[in-house]
Amino acid sequence: MCGIVAYLGKREAYPILINGLRRLEYRGYDSAGVALMDQGKLTVYKCKGKVSDLEAFVGTRSTQATVAIGHTRWATHGPPNDVNAHPHQSTSGDLVLIHNGIIENYASLKVELVNRGHSFLSDTDTEVLVHLIDDIQRTEKVDLAEAVRLALQSVVGAYAIVVLDKKAPDMMVAARKSSPLVIGIGDGEYFAASDATPIVEHTKNVVYLEDGEIAVIDREHGLKIRNVKNQEKTPFIQELELHLEALEKGGYDHFMLKEIHEQPRSIRDSMRGRLNLAKGEVVLGGITDHEQKFVNAKRILIVACGTSWHAGMVGEYLFEEFARIPVEVEYASEFRYRNPIVGEDDLVIAISQSGETADTMAAIELAKNRGATIIGICNVVGSSIARITHAGSYTHAGPEIGVASTKAFTAQVTVLTLMALMVGQKKGVLSGGHFHRLLNELDAIPEKVQKVLGTEAQIKYIADIYKNATNALYLGRGYTFPVALEGALKLKEISYIHAEGYPAAEMKHGPIALIDEAMPVIVIATKGASYEKVVSNIQEVKARKGKVIAIVTEGDTVVKDLADHVIEIPETSDALVPLLSVVPLQLLSYHIAVMRGCNVDQPRNLAKSVTVE
Ligand code: G6P
Repeated sequence: MCGIVAYLGKREAYPILINGLRRLEYRGYDSAGVALMDQGKLTVYKCKGKVSDLEAFVGTRSTQATVAIGHTRWATHGPPNDVNAHPHQSTSGDLVLIHNGIIENYASLKVELVNRGHSFLSDTDTEVLVHLIDDIQRTEKVDLAEAVRLALQSVVGAYAIVVLDKKAPDMMVAARKSSPLVIGIGDGEYFAASDATPIVEHTKNVVYLEDGEIAVIDREHGLKIRNVKNQEKTPFIQELELHLEALEKGGYDHFMLKEIHEQPRSIRDSMRGRLNLAKGEVVLGGITDHEQKFVNAKRILIVACGTSWHAGMVGEYLFEEFARIPVEVEYASEFRYRNPIVGEDDLVIAISQSGETADTMAAIELAKNRGATIIGICNVVGSSIARITHAGSYTHAGPEIGVASTKAFTAQVTVLTLMALMVGQKKGVLSGGHFHRLLNELDAIPEKVQKVLGTEAQIKYIADIYKNATNALYLGRGYTFPVALEGALKLKEISYIHAEGYPAAEMKHGPIALIDEAMPVIVIATKGASYEKVVSNIQEVKARKGKVIAIVTEGDTVVKDLADHVIEIPETSDALVPLLSVVPLQLLSYHIAVMRGCNVDQPRNLAKSVTVE
């Protein structure tokens, strides 16, 4: 994680960096810092806390500079404090560096450098890098770019870095391996950042650095790219499709609330051009060449983390029901450290909002090395996962900035639904009539989500009653079991209330022991295959004086009589219920967290893009 941003141009760099760091704060917010280069004078300001704390710390001090780098940290090595904050400097003070990633062999490099007379101030792995570059520069008598290149040859791990050198005040050197880095090219000015969000308001022309590439940006000679093997590369300039409005709160109090409310649009965008009702077909352009692989697949493996893993579980049910293909859903972190059985006959679907999650990337590499075909479902266009997979479908949900994922989940489930329906039809598993009914139902989902959003006032009322709960249980069955997991995750990550998601029928094998009058139990009890069974589970909770908040189908009367509160959602087919039933759970967590005074968009200890193992 961590966010990095850099500028070299004609304008004052500091406000550009601060603005950029605010946009990148979703990547980490333990500490922040900047290094400002003004005609060979280097000033570093850094402190524990958020970007706003850094601004307060800098206050009215001089910030004059047209070359600068900035960082917002998510701590890995060493606690969040002023000293561990980036940028880090070499002993001489000539070099200054920001880093996102982890230098795995930092301990052995540090020992060598200490033996060579270097002294360290921080606990970070990053500080080793700046000393290493400095050491090489001195011993090999090379310029900054060459010293960075040589240093990176000794480094094991993941990095996106930007380095400045007092001795070359009109230059910055950036490099990446396994951590993202985008270079923006403006009119006589250059940017570097972890993603395009700090860049888009200045220029639409960007170059996504590839693994092992080093960008040398010089006021006089512009941008040159080479790789660690010293081969020149021609920069591939792309035009950003990102719009600035997508990065603003647009009148909402929090990004999370804005993103929850965007779902009618984001789900529609995920289907746009793919679901053709008139022709009665699903076309997923990105995977057309791999359709036969899907149709012939003996098994599908889904790898993901966090909320994306929950979407993957819905995917399992979808592919099994509609395409009759066995599916295994794996936590990417577990998959990569087993010796999983995966090979040429397997189709692997990797799901990731950010497209940068380190564990998911490693799982993909492993499966790829063993010959599997990898299909990506990513939200961030041009992200690492989108680039290392064989093919894929973007979710098109637009930038998701709230750390707790909401619209990305529904977009992932939408894309998985489209995929499963398409494969089911091509395999002949789904009859024409059934297929068309489902297409029509899917097409109606955005309007139905809009209707669910209309229950917000009622959800706020319920949130007020349960805001002081210490535990909560979420129950679902079939398609709604993953939704129960997702609802529980949303509550714990933003309101810090302990919550568990369970298959409703499993409650009697453990969680039932926890139920008393203080325990809210959130049950998804929509009409469908397991409705009667779930009603019995509600009765079991009520018999033990638990408080039941039920998500029910419009017009339900049975659950209404049993539950303490009901939230109605429109009727739809079982397979599409996740897209509707997750929305009240997102809103419930959001309002409880706000009422508890929690930082909804930046919950403690979390980060949106987890680029460490
Ligand atoms: C982090 C985020 C979650 C996200 C998970 C997987 O934990 O806080 O919201 O679901 O990473 O991220 P990905 O970008 O791969 O979907």
